Amino acid sequence: MLNSIGGKILSGILRYNARNHINYYKDMVEKKTDTSESEDKKEITEDIVDAFEIRAISDKGIDYDKLITKFGSSKITPDLIERLEKVTGKPIHHYLRRGIFFSHRDLDKILTAYEKKEPFYLYTGRGPSNEALHLGHLIPFTFTKYLQDVFDVPLVIQLTDDEKYYHKPLELEDCRKYAIENIKDIIAVGFNPERTFIFRNTDYIDQLYPNSLKIAKHVTLNQIKGIFGFNDSDNAGKFSFPPLQAAPAFSTTFPQIFGDKDIPCLIPHAIDQDVYFRMTRDVAPRIGMKKPACIHSCFFPALQGLKSKMSGSIETSSIFSTDTPNQIKTKINKYAFSGGQDTLEKQRELGANLDIDVAYQFLRFFLEDEAEFLEIGRKYQKGELLTGEVKAKAINVIQKVVLTHQENRAKVTDEIIKDFMSRKKIDPLPAAFRK
Ligand code: TYM
Repeated sequence: MLNSIGGKILSGILRYNARNHINYYKDMVEKKTDTSESEDKKEITEDIVDAFEIRAISDKGIDYDKLITKFGSSKITPDLIERLEKVTGKPIHHYLRRGIFFSHRDLDKILTAYEKKEPFYLYTGRGPSNEALHLGHLIPFTFTKYLQDVFDVPLVIQLTDDEKYYHKPLELEDCRKYAIENIKDIIAVGFNPERTFIFRNTDYIDQLYPNSLKIAKHVTLNQIKGIFGFNDSDNAGKFSFPPLQAAPAFSTTFPQIFGDKDIPCLIPHAIDQDVYFRMTRDVAPRIGMKKPACIHSCFFPALQGLKSKMSGSIETSSIFSTDTPNQIKTKINKYAFSGGQDTLEKQRELGANLDIDVAYQFLRFFLEDEAEFLEIGRKYQKGELLTGEVKAKAINVIQKVVLTHQENRAKVTDEIIKDFMSRKKIDPLPAAFRK
């Protein structure tokens, strides 16, 4: 009798623990796969910025100066911008003028090499977690196009279908399909077809593999846990993936372009991806390769405000490259957080807080006309413009950006995709350096 009661209690305890264990495991998986998107209300005492989560403590968003100190990168100074303009002989991009690309590692070394007519290449990427890109994703790609145009260098673009398979509740075939859809958006940005190679990891794995092995051998499991925050409940794929994002930062991953030469690499990306490239730079000397240089952008904000970034997994936080003009209008009117005052009288008297106003921040990224942008900022801050008027301008600008993008995307044929994804030869030297 006692035995059977004891047995029931024990099996109850075991069932309870097993259930809790499953919930705990499920929580970990969900947290790790979707943390940047979860609206976690837990109080934080400092900004969180990594590849999986972005949260700021202030309504003004991430304190990027503090982040530079924390990450050990370097601020992009006016002198460096002036130098870049001089080296390229072309006008600088407004992302640099407005501090949107704000931080770097070894960009000065890339400029020094270029001044000596030595080649370098560009590398950037996308994790295909859904069919469409949002406006935030376009920022690094638009800037990369500018860099390719002004430097006339080769560019490689990685689609990490493997990464998203490990991190999201998706089938591998979905990730592979999304990669192709995303590639159409990437091509629509306007990259030079003769100087750009785009690849999915699951297709290009034969060439990624040797360098990723060398990288993996020089990083310990403890380091991966420390850098990326994974724990023992995370799937093993997450641990094995980072060397695959590191490998394209080494030119020998692309023998069809660089042969066996160690050519320096410059990686444009938003600062969330810096964790991968801190690891890559640490490993580089251990495998006898040059450290890649990086150039970092800040985050295009969520519609709800600068405390988080625009993120594909929260539908209402984002404007997608597939949105219609009407959807864009509704989203901005309904959700874009306002830095203006509550009443007309107060707005006229006190003006708006530009640092927290989403419509104004959208203009900072997408309204290229400098004089008009400055004028809107001046008037809005003084109360001469109302939130509705600034939102109307943002709607107009974003609708145009998205429509142009959609027109360009519609022109991307299967032939064009095939050409961008073919392992073609690309001259590593800019035309001006060739004899
Ligand atoms: P993914 O797909 O999350 O993002 C693609 C690129 O967009 C940047 N980004 C943003 N930039 C500004 N504002 C935002 N709200 C915003 N959200 C995302 C990202 O920093 C990234 O540059 N693991 C990567 C894919 C990848 C990659 C790379 C990225 C592979 N190799 C090399 C950059 C460079 C990923 O999942 O990116």
